[in-house]
Amino acid sequence: MFDVIPGVDYYCVIGNPVVQSKSPAIHQAFAAQTGQRMSYEKVLVPLAGFSDALVEFKRRGGRGLNVTVPFKQQAFAAAETLSARARMAGAVNTMWLDAAGGWHADNTDGAGLLRDLQNNHRVSIHGRRILVCGAGGAARGALPVLLEAGPQEIVIANRTLARAQAIVDECDEGMRVHAVGYDALCDFAAFDLIINATSSGLSGAVPPVPAVCVAPHTCCYDMMYGDGPTAFQRWSQARGAAVAIDGLGMLVEQAAEAFRLWRGVTPDSGAVIAAMRNKKSGD
Ligand code: ATR
Repeated sequence: MFDVIPGVDYYCVIGNPVVQSKSPAIHQAFAAQTGQRMSYEKVLVPLAGFSDALVEFKRRGGRGLNVTVPFKQQAFAAAETLSARARMAGAVNTMWLDAAGGWHADNTDGAGLLRDLQNNHRVSIHGRRILVCGAGGAARGALPVLLEAGPQEIVIANRTLARAQAIVDECDEGMRVHAVGYDALCDFAAFDLIINATSSGLSGAVPPVPAVCVAPHTCCYDMMYGDGPTAFQRWSQARGAAVAIDGLGMLVEQAAEAFRLWRGVTPDSGAVIAAMRNKKSGD
């Protein structure tokens, strides 16, 4: 665990499972691009071993880490200093140590989503009506950043309505954010943007969004990605959505934001997204 090379700043992603993580490839590409002397690897941490891993990471002289499933909430609890967006999300995906050994933490998932939407796909949020499907960690990470971008309305739909309602209650945005069950979506006009923040794609399923939510101008965004179009992308295309985007760009953009926090340098995320898409189609 934690293969630190003396004289090289050490970073990693910790999770369980973590074998599928593309973060090492992304951060190694950023480091090569920007000439940063650092290493980045993936580390499998036992399910009950998160606190021990942080202690060991510090002892070995690591600089920063990304946190993935299922440790994002534990990372939130372990941090000594949290960004405002991490506090609102209640989850952390990026941590680093200061010179005195204190743990700082942020959540860059929402920023990654917003940058991918706005910069890479020219999808604006301001004044738009947005449907967010799901009320877990992914939705929580996205919400504060989406709200900051000035949408007209955000509707959060979830199978378990109470989880969506809890997010609405916490964000205290009054009339601008609503929680509903999927059936109630039949009473809404089609949305400008639908974001799939559920984990339904893991089993090849899609959230039960009524067809009336999609119009020819609707942009559909799946936070997940895969080797081909995701189930939600296929669903969106079949319903005539204007565009159906996967989460690969979000993945790279959240990493770019973590890299900036750690290294003080903003990498060229577009080049890395393009390389990963080429690699995918060439596999
Ligand atoms: P994450 O951190 O990835 O958001 P999570 O906190 O486990 O993971 O949340 C998963 C989300 O996907 C939840 O909103 C879940 O709905 P429930 O809260 O009702 O369980 C949603 N989800 C998972 N599978 C789904 C499916 N097949 N259809 C619709 N929603 C699904």
